Amino acid sequence: MSSVLPLSAGSGRWNGEGMNANTHTHTPTAVSVLGLGQMGAALAAAFLAAGHPTTVWNRTPAKAEPLVDRGAAHAATVAEAVAASDLIVVCVLDYPAVRALLGPEAPALRGRTVVNLTTGSPEQARAEAEWAAGHGIGYLDGGIMTTPPGIGDSAHMILYAGDAEPLARYRPVLAVLGDPVDLGRDAGLASLYDAGLLGLMWSVFGGWLHATALTGADGVTARDFTRVADRWLRTVAWFMGGYAEQIDQGEYPGADATIDVQVAAIGHLLHAGDARGVDGRLPRLHLELMRSAVDAGHGGDSYARLIEAFRK
Ligand SMILES: NC(=O)c1ccc[n+]([C@@H]2O[C@H](COP(=O)([O-])OP(=O)(O)OC[C@H]3O[C@@H](n4cnc5c(N)ncnc54)[C@H](OP(=O)(O)O)[C@@H]3O)[C@@H](O)[C@H]2O)c1
Repeated sequence: MSSVLPLSAGSGRWNGEGMNANTHTHTPTAVSVLGLGQMGAALAAAFLAAGHPTTVWNRTPAKAEPLVDRGAAHAATVAEAVAASDLIVVCVLDYPAVRALLGPEAPALRGRTVVNLTTGSPEQARAEAEWAAGHGIGYLDGGIMTTPPGIGDSAHMILYAGDAEPLARYRPVLAVLGDPVDLGRDAGLASLYDAGLLGLMWSVFGGWLHATALTGADGVTARDFTRVADRWLRTVAWFMGGYAEQIDQGEYPGADATIDVQVAAIGHLLHAGDARGVDGRLPRLHLELMRSAVDAGHGGDSYARLIEAFRK
């Protein structure tokens, strides 16, 4: 079992007043990781790989062993883990578990920073931020936008929201996990974006699986279809950029393609699917949404008009 190395400069403690001299250095920074499930273990491994003295704690202690073999210090208790570092990263199942772990340690956490990378709701995140502020604890809420194998790769985003100063202070340390994206001071925003982005992912997965089943029915392999789909998604992202401007302006000119034209086009998708015995629930849902806009007299508008169908 290794011991925690001393910080090379300053305490790094959050005092709520501004950054200290070692804020932007890349010196080793002590970090404690609470929760060593699939994700927590990947986070701890990334800190270790970057040379940050890492203390680990998990409810089931055996999960710490592979990390201790790689140089982590093992904390037998949450209190020990909190005492070891000014930066505490938490990644457990849910927010009730986070509070159960941190609640009894509130006095010891004062002046330190908690980075909560556990998935939860915006309301839970805001409540946690309020609790932390009430105890003089720096708080960042995070949304990890990748899976454990993606940790340590700056191609992937980790969303942060909450206190500005700890984020500025620890940004270089947190950057070893993935590209840190600052969503601002409302601690609920990381969870809100996370939920929305997962919804987007499931919609894309659904559309991709439907299309893969459709093309696969005529012998196209998933790999061949996906090569083309990958390029198409970039074009779709380009469409979204233009439609986002329309949504923010509240005007939906159908200058590129109208909803009427897309109602006709989705008919071909439904026909092709029915002819091949492919489940058509997803495209029918899209058709239903498009028809609601057409029925309201907006068939000549762009697809962005459908935002109104979601804002009931
Ligand atoms: N895996 C992913 O791809 C991914 C991606 C983004 C975000 N996340 C989020 O990361 C968090 C952890 O996910 P995971 O994939 O690491 O899950 P996991 O492998 O199931 O690990 C869950 C962790 O939570 C701990 N835990 C559960 N209940 C606890 C409690 N009451 N008290 C203390 N510890 C408790 C477990 O401890 P034991 O080992 O003792 O059971 C374990 O360390 C979740 O919020 C998840 O949504 C995961």
